[in-house]
Amino acid sequence: MNNKISENEIWITKVDKKYIKLFDSFSTLEQDLIDFLKEDSIYNQEIKLSITYLFLDDKKQNILGYVSILSDSIKINADLGKIFVDKGINYKSLPAIKIGRLCVNSNFERRGIGTLLIDFVHRICINLSMNYLGCRLISLDSKRESIKFYEKVGFKILRGENKLQVPMYLDIEKYKVREK
Ligand SMILES: CC(C)(COP(=O)(O)OP(=O)(O)OC[C@H]1O[C@@H](n2cnc3c(N)ncnc32)[C@H](O)[C@@H]1OP(=O)(O)O)[C@@H](O)C(=O)NCCC(=O)NCCS
Repeated sequence: MNNKISENEIWITKVDKKYIKLFDSFSTLEQDLIDFLKEDSIYNQEIKLSITYLFLDDKKQNILGYVSILSDSIKINADLGKIFVDKGINYKSLPAIKIGRLCVNSNFERRGIGTLLIDFVHRICINLSMNYLGCRLISLDSKRESIKFYEKVGFKILRGENKLQVPMYLDIEKYKVREK
């Protein structure tokens, strides 16, 4: 049975005080991601450090997932430099949008919501880079246990050092074609 949730069953909205009543039913084993949603997401948006988008179910009764984004600049290391030089790009850093936090409500995992959250950020990057400002990459620091998910949706490891969080990136170049 395909129990994937489709895009037209989801409301996307910026975090706002009127959604605080939904925060308590948001569930994940990652306590820091609950804390961010409850304690920091609205304030960080007010002081322009990040914008958090909530994905709500069709009745607006549950937060299915959220993603918080901000601007970034990625230093290009030797391996990555070669990849971009081959694409005609020779800079020491590249402009990016960073996924600061991303989390799917554990009651709705493996139903495609994580993928839809990433698609949503893609579209923002494409819109920015075609109309407003240069933005070539999506960046993030993945928890080790989430690397498989990010690789599945197209991200690559930027540096594999042995830390709890692993920097990853996605080059949005090819999505320009999908937009036409
Ligand atoms: C990681 C996370 C975002 C995935 O969200 P999701 O909605 O379950 O992901 P999707 O349903 O879109 O999964 C797409 C594909 O990614 C892969 N994937 C997803 N979760 C995975 C996991 N835990 N282990 C291995 N592969 C995984 C699968 O190939 C999956 O496709 P399939 O279900 O058809 O096999 C979600 O589990 C989550 O929020 N976890 C806790 C918080 C977290 O780790 N956030 C990232 C912080 S860096």
